[in-house]
Amino acid sequence: MPSVEISAAADFIRQRTQRRPKIGLILGSGLNPLAEAIESPDVIPTGDIPHWPISTVQGHAGRLVIGELEGQAVLVLQGRIHFYEGYPMAVVTLPVRVMIALGIEMLIVTNAAGGLNPSFAPGDLMLIRDHLNFPGMAGNNPLFGPNDEATGPRFPDMTQAYDPALRDVARRAAAAAGLTLREGVYAYVAGPSFETPAELRFLQIAGGDAVGMSTAPEVVVAHHAGVRVLGISTIANLALPDPPPGLTVNHEEVLATGQLAVPRLILLVRGILQQLSAT
Ligand code: HPA
Repeated sequence: MPSVEISAAADFIRQRTQRRPKIGLILGSGLNPLAEAIESPDVIPTGDIPHWPISTVQGHAGRLVIGELEGQAVLVLQGRIHFYEGYPMAVVTLPVRVMIALGIEMLIVTNAAGGLNPSFAPGDLMLIRDHLNFPGMAGNNPLFGPNDEATGPRFPDMTQAYDPALRDVARRAAAAAGLTLREGVYAYVAGPSFETPAELRFLQIAGGDAVGMSTAPEVVVAHHAGVRVLGISTIANLALPDPPPGLTVNHEEVLATGQLAVPRLILLVRGILQQLSAT
């Protein structure tokens, strides 16, 4: 993606808000109520922003909400772009590149995911420790193509993509709020078809605890640019190779179950921001 397009989008946003947040937040499917918690928001429909891709998925309103949460300026993206919508990875990750151009130093990514770990239940929150980027490993890494050395290295280290200190912050915030926080590996698949039982078994064997169709490309791009990343999945459904009889998965259920986790996700994000301002 030519940087001129990223600069144009970032300039447009700077003209629409006086705020200069250091924290970005990307909301997953059905997690829109978190945006309603933002105080004195400047709201920018993403359709107004030059070069911004159109989000086509139900449950993903396209808005940037720039305001305050727990006394911190935050830039919230409601309506992320997915690879399965047909956009190339450079376009999928344009919103993150624009956030980076705007000066974000920390990115909190959220998503709705299927629970591969048999001890997880729908409605659980999972702190992402690491990811499996299957499309990336197969040639759809968002850093594919010429590298901008001013942004980051050609071959970025990924051993600590999910910032260990921020994971500590999340654990402390969960404990302080009395919330159970699972932890695990997020397996990123392209979708849009849900997984077959054989695929789910494979993802479990590969070490996945949750499976979803977003997040990893954004994390690669943010980490490459030195942005500290924190990831939280809400477990929207069971994604088990041998499910209880009659259990199937559909997008409506994913959105509905996501709602169960929303109040706790909001509490957790608020707690994380409190911990960050206290340190
Ligand atoms: N599989 C893939 N992506 C998902 C799922 C799932 O079961 N649930 C929510 N996003």
